[in-house]
Amino acid sequence: MNVIHTPVLLEETLTLLAPRSDGEVMCDATLGEAGHAEAFLERFPALQIIGIDADMSIQEIAKNRLERFGARARFYHGRSQDFFAQTARARIAGFGIEKFDTALIDLGVSLYHYAQSGRGFSFAKDEPLDMRINPSEGRTVADIIAGLPEKELADLLYNNAEERYSRRIARAIVEERARSPIAASKRLADIVARSVPPQYRYGAAHPATKTFQALRIEVNGELSGLRPLLESAWDALRSPGRLGVISFHSLESRVVKGYFRELAKNGSGRLVTKKAVAPRMEEIRANAPSRSALLRVVEKI
Ligand SMILES: C[S@@+](CC[C@H](N)C(=O)[O-])C[C@H]1O[C@@H](n2cnc3c(N)ncnc32)[C@H](O)[C@@H]1O
Repeated sequence: MNVIHTPVLLEETLTLLAPRSDGEVMCDATLGEAGHAEAFLERFPALQIIGIDADMSIQEIAKNRLERFGARARFYHGRSQDFFAQTARARIAGFGIEKFDTALIDLGVSLYHYAQSGRGFSFAKDEPLDMRINPSEGRTVADIIAGLPEKELADLLYNNAEERYSRRIARAIVEERARSPIAASKRLADIVARSVPPQYRYGAAHPATKTFQALRIEVNGELSGLRPLLESAWDALRSPGRLGVISFHSLESRVVKGYFRELAKNGSGRLVTKKAVAPRMEEIRANAPSRSALLRVVEKI
């Protein structure tokens, strides 16, 4: 399968997470199609990377892409917070490593998920409403919207994506699901579009953008799992070592910013990026999904 995802803030990441000596080990905790990982392995010939992804199918693409680097690229399938935290030492030791010199977390999903996974991430396609990064674990979006009471559904849309028409959308979903189960992405997108005011329906973004985002965040525990992910990655870092996080929406960004500030305040970390790094105009022009990306880097003292 072809690689389709363009890594965001790539030059900035390569600069801020550059190894400082030979033989360093980096953890790419959200490997995806390995866009960042490939660039790091190319630019820094003495660097090794352990790449983690909860999605087995995208990891296969990454493995093919990084094959030419041989043992410099190794892989773990699962959630990064589990890799780092559960039995962190034993697992990392299983790779012959005690701590990482750098870690990169590029949050969210890849273009692959929208365009090729067939799991209902995109409102522009008609696919089964799944949206799980790891399809062998947990509830699907179809499960969630089939069973959640109206108020909880509205709260979910508001809390996960700040959807301002959360109540109207939740009501429409509940009415429609009484007719027949909502199992496909196109039907959900149509229900949302019909339930919102016309100016929102024909605005710059598709009216279902936030609903899809909120549901994806829910099934994958992206917000609830973020703080544990950051903490466990921090624990797995050597000192001095650097943690870089790329976030894509304000709720995510707030958690990262707050955690990094705490590290600086309690004296265990130094903020390498005083202000989050945003993409330059040329990058946004060339790759529209990069427009909301923000990179923050903290160094372990
Ligand atoms: C934005 S993409 C990464 C793109 C990658 N940096 C590249 O340039 O190709 C995020 C990836 O992380 C994975 N992912 C998201 N949360 C994860 C988690 N908690 N643990 C492991 N993998 C995760 C997703 O499946 C997805 O493939």
